[in-house]
Amino acid sequence: MDTRTTDTAAEPFPWVPRWRTLLSSVAMARDPIGNLDRAHAGRGDTVGMHLGGIRPIIMTRDPALAQHILQKNHRCYLKSDLTHGLIRYIGRGLLTNEGADWLRQRRLIQPGFHRQRLAGLTRLMQAAAEEWTQELRQRTAAGPALVDIHEAMTRVAFRIIAQATFGTSMGDTERERLSTILTQIQAFYVRTIRQPYLRPWWHLTGSYRYHDALSQELRELVRGYIRRRRAASNSQPHDDLLQMLLDARYEDTGEPMTEDRLLDEANILLLAGHETSANALSWLFYLLAAHPEAAAKVRAELQSAGLANRPPVFDELPRLPYSLQVIQETMRLYPPAWILDRVALEEDEFQGQRIPKGTLFSIYLYGMHRHPQLWAEPDEFRPGRFAPHAQPPVPAYGYLPFGAGPRMCIGNHFALTEIQLMLVETLRHFSIELPPDTASVPVPLITLRPPHGMLLRFQQIQ
Ligand code: HEM
Repeated sequence: MDTRTTDTAAEPFPWVPRWRTLLSSVAMARDPIGNLDRAHAGRGDTVGMHLGGIRPIIMTRDPALAQHILQKNHRCYLKSDLTHGLIRYIGRGLLTNEGADWLRQRRLIQPGFHRQRLAGLTRLMQAAAEEWTQELRQRTAAGPALVDIHEAMTRVAFRIIAQATFGTSMGDTERERLSTILTQIQAFYVRTIRQPYLRPWWHLTGSYRYHDALSQELRELVRGYIRRRRAASNSQPHDDLLQMLLDARYEDTGEPMTEDRLLDEANILLLAGHETSANALSWLFYLLAAHPEAAAKVRAELQSAGLANRPPVFDELPRLPYSLQVIQETMRLYPPAWILDRVALEEDEFQGQRIPKGTLFSIYLYGMHRHPQLWAEPDEFRPGRFAPHAQPPVPAYGYLPFGAGPRMCIGNHFALTEIQLMLVETLRHFSIELPPDTASVPVPLITLRPPHGMLLRFQQIQ
């Protein structure tokens, strides 16, 4: 018998009875967010349940427990097999690595994301934003046009991360191939997690083989790129992430990374920096279409900062605080990483409650960001919550779109910069409307994606 369903005094957290998770496993697969919200509303901020009626997992939207796991006692927690499973396809890089090896890599790579480096990369972000507004100008030349925003933002975000990583000399065909491979691998990986009972079938039908071959192709494409760069490194200076990875030296040995190491890290940057940003941008434009008053305020801010007629440079972005608040509020309502996974490496304790070794946790950021006791009218879009002296202030550890603690997103400033540049460049030239029947229910996969066919209407501002 599963004592956890009956004996809550001896065990740390309330559990949804196993028979209930079994019965609702189809509903859970169909609508995880609705089901998780109901479980938390009924049983509290931290709830045990069985994934697919089988695998015990503790879901939490409690900021104190999130802080305990991610920051205070982070040494006791690793990412779970849900994240480590990606190693097969993408490799062992910052996102998927653990322990001392992760720390050594993080120390090596961190300087590549410092402010000064970022300032250099904003030129290509700006170029991508301009290319996007050129495309929009063509599409809206004869009047307002409907745009599949997720499709468009996926292209823009991939262009930015691919060029930031490999430089601007990568051709469109090669870049599109990389993007297709990553998309296919990710889609397959999500299916292997969601429908584990189909794994034997995928072995039989060669799906695993096919995706392993795709991952091999990805590695060879990136390897070719690294070798070409190495061969040409004396002839031309480069200021991209690949060059940073090539130039980095370990503190202890003074040695550079091996080629395979470098390849893994480059792949991880492509993966981690692509879909998250694309989703954030898509939800941002969706919310601005639904809230024209916020779009008008962004334009007014541009005007008063003297940036209505030209794109801002990196150092001017802090003069646009409201546009940043709009982005922060977007990621509160639609956190691209909507759930974080961890496993207890050893027995632990939280507020007097025992956490057995091996306990699997899911930190439910979507639920935390809309928690009715943390946020006033949590489902409302109110960028002013993030204003410097807003009351009530943003709850500590209640807002974690980039995670927290030592594993916090290394690309957070990169992401905020590209999103802010895209936001102001778009709103300088276009107005956005929400057609009445636009699909808007989020699709929670590895990231929180907008639904297919989320169409927004763009129009040139005269
Ligand atoms: C809006 C965009 C983004 C969001 C919401 C986001 C979110 C996150 C979150 C929540 C984590 C922590 C995961 C965990 O603790 O389990 C993370 C890690 C990471 N992100 Fe991002 N990210 C974004 C953009 C980027 C970009 C643009 C890059 C690269 C340029 C990037 C690279 C990484 C890497 C390498 C890690 C692993 C860091 C480590 O464990 O040392 N991310 N991201």
